[in-house]
Amino acid sequence: MWVEKYRPHKLEDVMNQTEVKERLRPLLEKKDEMPHLLFAGPPGTGKTTIATILAEQLLGPLKPDYTLSLNASDERGIDIVRERVKVFASYSDRREGVPFRLVILDEADEMTRDAQTALRRIMEESSRFTRFILICNYSSGIIEPIQSRCAIFRFQRVVGEDVVGQLKKIAKAEGVKASEKVLEAVYEATSGDLRQAINLLQAASAGAGEVTIERVNAVTGSAVKHRAAEIIGLALDGDFEASRVKLVELTRVYGVPESDFLRYANEAITGSNTETMAGAIKIIAEYDYRLLMGASPEIQLTAMLAELASLKKPKIKE
Ligand SMILES: Nc1ncnc2c1ncn2[C@@H]1O[C@H](COP(=O)(O)OP(=O)(O)O)[C@@H](O)[C@H]1O
Ligand SMILES: [Mg+2]
Repeated sequence: MWVEKYRPHKLEDVMNQTEVKERLRPLLEKKDEMPHLLFAGPPGTGKTTIATILAEQLLGPLKPDYTLSLNASDERGIDIVRERVKVFASYSDRREGVPFRLVILDEADEMTRDAQTALRRIMEESSRFTRFILICNYSSGIIEPIQSRCAIFRFQRVVGEDVVGQLKKIAKAEGVKASEKVLEAVYEATSGDLRQAINLLQAASAGAGEVTIERVNAVTGSAVKHRAAEIIGLALDGDFEASRVKLVELTRVYGVPESDFLRYANEAITGSNTETMAGAIKIIAEYDYRLLMGASPEIQLTAMLAELASLKKPKIKE
Protein backbone atom coordinates (compact mmCIF):
# COMPACT_ATOMS: atom_id res chain seq x y z
CA MET A 1 0.00 0.00 0.00
CA TRP A 2 1.57 3.25 -1.14
CA VAL A 3 -0.43 5.27 1.40
CA GLU A 4 1.41 3.52 4.22
CA LYS A 5 4.75 3.35 2.45
CA TYR A 6 4.73 7.11 1.90
CA ARG A 7 3.19 8.19 5.19
CA PRO A 8 5.39 11.04 6.46
CA HIS A 9 7.41 10.41 9.64
CA LYS A 10 8.44 14.00 10.24
CA LEU A 11 6.32 17.09 10.70
CA GLU A 12 8.15 18.94 7.94
CA ASP A 13 7.29 16.18 5.45
CA VAL A 14 3.55 16.63 5.99
CA MET A 15 2.14 18.65 3.09
CA ASN A 16 0.02 21.75 3.74
CA GLN A 17 -1.46 22.17 7.23
CA THR A 18 1.01 25.03 7.77
CA GLU A 19 -1.00 26.59 10.56
CA VAL A 20 -1.39 23.29 12.38
CA LYS A 21 2.32 22.57 12.18
CA GLU A 22 3.27 26.04 13.34
CA ARG A 23 1.04 25.83 16.38
CA LEU A 24 2.27 22.34 17.25
CA ARG A 25 6.01 23.09 17.22
CA PRO A 26 6.11 25.14 20.43
CA LEU A 27 4.10 22.41 22.17
CA LEU A 28 6.83 19.92 21.35
CA GLU A 29 9.41 22.19 22.99
CA LYS A 30 7.50 22.38 26.26
CA LYS A 31 6.19 18.86 26.59
CA ASP A 32 5.06 19.28 30.17
CA GLU A 33 2.66 22.02 29.22
CA MET A 34 0.98 20.21 26.39
CA PRO A 35 -2.83 20.42 26.49
CA HIS A 36 -5.24 17.79 25.17
CA LEU A 37 -5.52 18.14 21.39
CA LEU A 38 -8.52 17.90 19.09
CA PHE A 39 -7.80 17.40 15.37
CA ALA A 40 -10.74 18.14 13.08
CA GLY A 41 -10.97 18.07 9.29
CA PRO A 42 -11.75 16.11 6.13
CA PRO A 43 -10.38 12.60 5.52
CA GLY A 44 -6.96 12.04 4.01
CA THR A 45 -5.46 15.33 5.12
CA GLY A 46 -2.88 14.14 7.68
CA LYS A 47 -4.68 13.97 11.04
CA THR A 48 -3.68 10.43 11.99
CA THR A 49 -0.26 10.96 10.45
CA ILE A 50 0.45 14.00 12.61
CA ALA A 51 -0.91 12.31 15.75
CA THR A 52 1.49 9.42 15.16
CA ILE A 53 4.41 11.78 14.56
CA LEU A 54 3.64 13.62 17.78
CA ALA A 55 3.52 10.38 19.74
CA GLU A 56 6.94 9.43 18.36
CA GLN A 57 8.46 12.81 19.14
CA LEU A 58 6.97 13.07 22.60
CA LEU A 59 7.62 9.54 23.79
CA GLY A 60 10.47 8.31 21.64
CA PRO A 61 11.29 4.61 21.99
CA LEU A 62 8.79 4.29 24.86
CA LYS A 63 5.90 5.15 22.57
CA PRO A 64 4.55 1.58 22.32
CA ASP A 65 4.26 1.26 26.10
CA TYR A 66 2.90 4.71 26.75
CA THR A 67 0.44 5.15 23.89
CA LEU A 68 -3.06 3.72 23.56
CA SER A 69 -4.48 4.07 20.04
CA LEU A 70 -8.10 3.23 19.35
CA ASN A 71 -9.82 3.68 16.02
CA ALA A 72 -13.22 3.16 14.48
CA SER A 73 -12.69 -0.53 13.91
CA ASP A 74 -12.58 -1.00 17.67
CA GLU A 75 -15.75 -1.30 19.66
CA ARG A 76 -16.28 2.13 21.16
CA GLY A 77 -19.31 1.99 23.35
CA ILE A 78 -19.25 3.29 26.84
CA ASP A 79 -17.89 0.03 28.26
CA ILE A 80 -14.72 0.17 26.21
CA VAL A 81 -14.09 3.77 27.16
CA ARG A 82 -14.63 2.90 30.81
CA GLU A 83 -12.42 -0.12 30.73
CA ARG A 84 -9.60 0.28 28.26
CA VAL A 85 -9.14 4.02 28.35
CA LYS A 86 -9.75 4.36 32.05
CA VAL A 87 -7.37 1.58 33.02
CA PHE A 88 -4.68 2.86 30.66
CA ALA A 89 -5.11 6.51 31.63
CA SER A 90 -5.12 5.94 35.35
CA TYR A 91 -1.68 4.35 35.69
CA SER A 92 0.42 6.96 37.37
CA ASP A 93 3.84 5.46 36.83
CA ARG A 94 6.42 7.99 35.70
CA ARG A 95 9.58 7.25 33.85
CA GLU A 96 12.58 9.43 33.18
CA GLY A 97 11.99 11.32 29.93
CA VAL A 98 8.34 10.35 29.58
CA PRO A 99 6.18 13.44 30.07
CA PHE A 100 2.82 11.61 30.11
CA ARG A 101 0.81 8.68 28.81
CA LEU A 102 -0.90 9.38 25.52
CA VAL A 103 -4.34 8.25 24.34
CA ILE A 104 -5.12 8.68 20.62
CA LEU A 105 -8.80 8.27 19.76
CA ASP A 106 -9.42 8.24 16.04
CA GLU A 107 -12.90 9.06 14.73
CA ALA A 108 -13.91 10.32 18.15
CA ASP A 109 -17.04 11.93 16.70
CA GLU A 110 -18.40 8.41 16.16
CA MET A 111 -18.51 7.82 19.89
CA THR A 112 -21.90 7.91 21.55
CA ARG A 113 -22.72 10.85 23.81
CA ASP A 114 -22.65 8.60 26.83
CA ALA A 115 -19.22 7.34 25.92
CA GLN A 116 -18.04 10.93 25.39
CA THR A 117 -19.38 11.93 28.78
CA ALA A 118 -17.49 9.04 30.37
CA LEU A 119 -14.43 10.12 28.42
CA ARG A 120 -14.72 13.65 29.67
CA ARG A 121 -14.67 12.42 33.26
CA ILE A 122 -11.59 10.29 32.59
CA MET A 123 -9.87 13.30 31.00
CA GLU A 124 -10.50 15.31 34.14
CA GLU A 125 -9.43 12.63 36.56
CA SER A 126 -6.26 11.59 34.77
CA SER A 127 -5.01 14.90 33.45
CA ARG A 128 -1.88 14.90 35.60
CA PHE A 129 -0.33 11.93 33.83
CA THR A 130 -2.30 11.52 30.61
CA ARG A 131 -2.85 13.53 27.45
CA PHE A 132 -5.48 12.87 24.79
CA ILE A 133 -5.39 13.44 21.05
CA LEU A 134 -8.93 13.21 19.70
CA ILE A 135 -9.42 12.99 15.94
CA CYS A 136 -12.67 13.70 14.12
CA ASN A 137 -14.12 14.95 10.85
CA TYR A 138 -16.40 17.53 12.45
CA SER A 139 -15.67 19.12 15.81
CA SER A 140 -19.44 19.58 16.19
CA GLY A 141 -19.63 15.83 16.76
CA ILE A 142 -17.70 16.23 20.01
CA ILE A 143 -19.54 17.29 23.15
CA GLU A 144 -18.89 20.87 24.23
CA PRO A 145 -17.22 20.09 27.60
CA ILE A 146 -14.58 18.01 25.79
CA GLN A 147 -14.05 20.65 23.10
CA SER A 148 -13.44 23.28 25.73
CA ARG A 149 -10.76 21.10 27.36
CA CYS A 150 -8.79 20.72 24.13
CA ALA A 151 -6.68 22.91 21.90
CA ILE A 152 -8.50 22.58 18.55
CA PHE A 153 -6.56 22.17 15.31
CA ARG A 154 -8.41 22.45 12.01
CA PHE A 155 -7.04 20.54 9.04
CA GLN A 156 -7.67 21.74 5.49
CA ARG A 157 -8.07 19.81 2.26
CA VAL A 158 -4.66 19.48 0.63
CA VAL A 159 -4.33 21.99 -2.24
CA GLY A 160 -3.94 20.77 -5.83
CA GLU A 161 -0.34 21.83 -6.17
CA ASP A 162 0.72 19.80 -3.13
CA VAL A 163 -1.34 16.75 -4.06
CA VAL A 164 0.26 16.76 -7.51
CA GLY A 165 3.70 17.33 -5.93
CA GLN A 166 3.32 14.37 -3.58
CA LEU A 167 1.98 12.12 -6.35
CA LYS A 168 4.93 13.10 -8.52
CA LYS A 169 7.37 12.11 -5.79
CA ILE A 170 5.66 8.76 -5.29
CA ALA A 171 5.42 8.02 -9.03
CA LYS A 172 9.13 8.75 -9.41
CA ALA A 173 10.08 6.53 -6.47
CA GLU A 174 7.94 3.71 -7.87
CA GLY A 175 9.30 4.09 -11.40
CA VAL A 176 5.87 4.91 -12.80
CA LYS A 177 5.39 7.45 -15.56
CA ALA A 178 2.59 9.96 -15.13
CA SER A 179 2.28 13.35 -16.80
CA GLU A 180 1.33 16.52 -14.94
CA LYS A 181 -2.05 16.38 -16.68
CA VAL A 182 -2.75 12.87 -15.44
CA LEU A 183 -1.79 13.78 -11.89
CA GLU A 184 -4.08 16.79 -12.07
CA ALA A 185 -6.90 14.48 -13.15
CA VAL A 186 -6.18 12.33 -10.09
CA TYR A 187 -6.42 15.42 -7.91
CA GLU A 188 -9.67 16.53 -9.59
CA ALA A 189 -11.22 13.14 -8.89
CA THR A 190 -10.24 13.14 -5.21
CA SER A 191 -10.71 16.78 -4.14
CA GLY A 192 -7.92 17.26 -1.62
CA ASP A 193 -8.08 13.80 0.00
CA LEU A 194 -4.47 12.66 -0.30
CA ARG A 195 -5.20 9.11 0.83
CA GLN A 196 -7.75 8.69 -1.96
CA ALA A 197 -5.41 10.36 -4.47
CA ILE A 198 -2.52 8.01 -3.67
CA ASN A 199 -4.81 4.96 -3.75
CA LEU A 200 -6.18 6.05 -7.10
CA LEU A 201 -2.68 6.52 -8.54
CA GLN A 202 -1.66 3.08 -7.31
CA ALA A 203 -4.78 1.42 -8.72
CA ALA A 204 -4.42 3.21 -12.07
CA SER A 205 -0.78 2.19 -12.39
CA ALA A 206 -1.25 -1.48 -11.55
CA GLY A 207 0.54 -3.58 -14.12
CA ALA A 208 1.50 -0.60 -16.28
CA GLY A 209 4.63 1.48 -16.64
CA GLU A 210 2.64 4.57 -17.49
CA VAL A 211 -0.54 6.01 -16.01
CA THR A 212 -2.83 7.53 -18.63
CA ILE A 213 -6.03 9.57 -18.34
CA GLU A 214 -7.92 6.57 -19.67
CA ARG A 215 -6.62 4.38 -16.87
CA VAL A 216 -7.49 6.99 -14.26
CA ASN A 217 -11.01 7.25 -15.66
CA ALA A 218 -11.35 3.50 -15.81
CA VAL A 219 -10.45 3.17 -12.14
CA THR A 220 -12.73 5.97 -10.94
CA GLY A 221 -15.45 4.59 -13.21
CA SER A 222 -15.05 1.09 -11.84
CA ALA A 223 -15.09 2.36 -8.27
CA VAL A 224 -18.40 4.09 -8.94
CA LYS A 225 -19.72 0.99 -10.64
CA HIS A 226 -18.80 -1.09 -7.64
CA ARG A 227 -20.52 1.33 -5.26
CA ALA A 228 -23.65 1.50 -7.41
CA ALA A 229 -23.84 -2.29 -7.47
CA GLU A 230 -23.51 -2.37 -3.70
CA ILE A 231 -26.37 0.12 -3.27
CA ILE A 232 -28.64 -1.87 -5.55
CA GLY A 233 -27.67 -5.07 -3.76
CA LEU A 234 -28.65 -3.60 -0.40
CA ALA A 235 -31.98 -2.35 -1.75
CA LEU A 236 -32.85 -5.67 -3.36
CA ASP A 237 -31.97 -7.31 -0.09
CA GLY A 238 -34.68 -5.23 1.54
CA ASP A 239 -32.28 -2.97 3.44
CA PHE A 240 -33.71 0.35 2.29
CA GLU A 241 -32.06 2.48 4.98
CA ALA A 242 -28.52 1.24 4.34
CA SER A 243 -28.90 1.66 0.58
CA ARG A 244 -30.29 5.17 1.03
CA VAL A 245 -27.34 6.24 3.19
CA LYS A 246 -24.86 4.89 0.65
CA LEU A 247 -26.66 6.61 -2.20
CA VAL A 248 -26.45 9.96 -0.45
CA GLU A 249 -22.74 9.34 0.11
CA LEU A 250 -22.21 8.49 -3.54
CA THR A 251 -23.99 11.54 -4.93
CA ARG A 252 -23.05 14.11 -2.31
CA VAL A 253 -19.60 13.06 -1.19
CA TYR A 254 -18.32 11.59 -4.44
CA GLY A 255 -20.34 13.91 -6.64
CA VAL A 256 -21.49 11.15 -8.96
CA PRO A 257 -24.26 12.37 -11.30
CA GLU A 258 -27.64 10.67 -10.81
CA SER A 259 -27.81 9.62 -14.45
CA ASP A 260 -24.51 7.76 -14.06
CA PHE A 261 -25.88 6.04 -11.02
CA LEU A 262 -28.93 4.81 -12.92
CA ARG A 263 -26.78 3.51 -15.75
CA TYR A 264 -24.56 1.54 -13.37
CA ALA A 265 -27.58 0.42 -11.38
CA ASN A 266 -29.10 -0.96 -14.54
CA GLU A 267 -25.89 -2.83 -15.36
CA ALA A 268 -25.72 -4.24 -11.86
CA ILE A 269 -29.28 -5.54 -12.03
CA THR A 270 -29.01 -6.98 -15.51
CA GLY A 271 -26.02 -8.94 -14.30
CA SER A 272 -27.62 -10.04 -11.06
CA ASN A 273 -29.77 -12.83 -12.44
CA THR A 274 -32.18 -12.78 -9.52
CA GLU A 275 -35.87 -13.63 -9.63
CA THR A 276 -36.70 -9.97 -9.03
CA MET A 277 -34.61 -8.84 -12.00
CA ALA A 278 -37.47 -8.11 -14.41
CA GLY A 279 -39.44 -6.15 -11.84
CA ALA A 280 -36.33 -4.22 -10.83
CA ILE A 281 -35.49 -3.23 -14.40
CA LYS A 282 -39.00 -1.92 -14.90
CA ILE A 283 -38.63 0.22 -11.79
CA ILE A 284 -35.31 1.65 -12.94
CA ALA A 285 -36.73 2.47 -16.37
CA GLU A 286 -39.64 4.29 -14.76
CA TYR A 287 -37.35 6.44 -12.63
CA ASP A 288 -34.99 7.08 -15.51
CA TYR A 289 -37.96 8.57 -17.33
CA ARG A 290 -38.99 10.69 -14.35
CA LEU A 291 -35.49 12.16 -14.06
CA LEU A 292 -35.55 12.92 -17.75
CA MET A 293 -38.77 14.84 -17.13
CA GLY A 294 -36.97 16.97 -14.60
CA ALA A 295 -38.14 15.55 -11.28
CA SER A 296 -35.92 16.13 -8.24
CA PRO A 297 -33.15 13.49 -8.45
CA GLU A 298 -32.56 12.89 -4.76
CA ILE A 299 -36.24 12.38 -3.95
CA GLN A 300 -36.77 10.21 -6.99
CA LEU A 301 -33.77 7.99 -6.43
CA THR A 302 -34.67 7.53 -2.78
CA ALA A 303 -38.19 6.53 -3.81
CA MET A 304 -36.67 4.15 -6.32
CA LEU A 305 -34.61 2.42 -3.63
CA ALA A 306 -37.74 2.13 -1.47
CA GLU A 307 -39.58 0.52 -4.32
CA LEU A 308 -36.71 -1.87 -5.05
CA ALA A 309 -36.54 -2.79 -1.38
CA SER A 310 -40.25 -3.59 -1.33
CA LEU A 311 -39.73 -6.20 -4.06
CA LYS A 312 -38.18 -8.41 -1.43
CA LYS A 313 -40.90 -10.67 -0.14
CA PRO A 314 -41.10 -10.63 3.65
CA LYS A 315 -40.03 -13.93 5.16
CA ILE A 316 -42.90 -15.95 6.54
CA LYS A 317 -42.40 -16.48 10.22
CA GLU A 318 -43.12 -19.93 11.54
N1 LIG B 1 -0.82 16.34 4.66
C1 LIG B 1 -0.30 15.19 4.17
N2 LIG B 1 0.98 15.14 3.73
C2 LIG B 1 1.49 13.99 3.22
N3 LIG B 1 0.80 12.83 3.12
C3 LIG B 1 -0.47 12.83 3.54
C4 LIG B 1 -1.08 14.00 4.10
N4 LIG B 1 -2.35 13.70 4.42
C5 LIG B 1 -2.53 12.42 4.10
N5 LIG B 1 -1.40 11.87 3.55
C6 LIG B 1 -1.28 10.51 3.00
O1 LIG B 1 -2.53 9.87 3.17
C7 LIG B 1 -2.45 8.79 4.10
C8 LIG B 1 -3.60 8.91 5.09
O2 LIG B 1 -3.42 10.07 5.89
P1 LIG B 1 -4.05 10.21 7.35
O3 LIG B 1 -3.13 11.02 8.16
O4 LIG B 1 -4.36 8.84 7.89
O5 LIG B 1 -5.37 10.99 7.03
P2 LIG B 1 -6.57 11.39 8.00
O6 LIG B 1 -6.63 12.88 7.96
O7 LIG B 1 -7.78 10.76 7.38
O8 LIG B 1 -6.26 10.83 9.36
C9 LIG B 1 -1.09 8.91 4.75
O9 LIG B 1 -0.55 7.62 4.97
C10 LIG B 1 -0.26 9.66 3.73
O10 LIG B 1 0.28 8.76 2.80
MG1 LIG C 1 -7.27 9.13 10.10
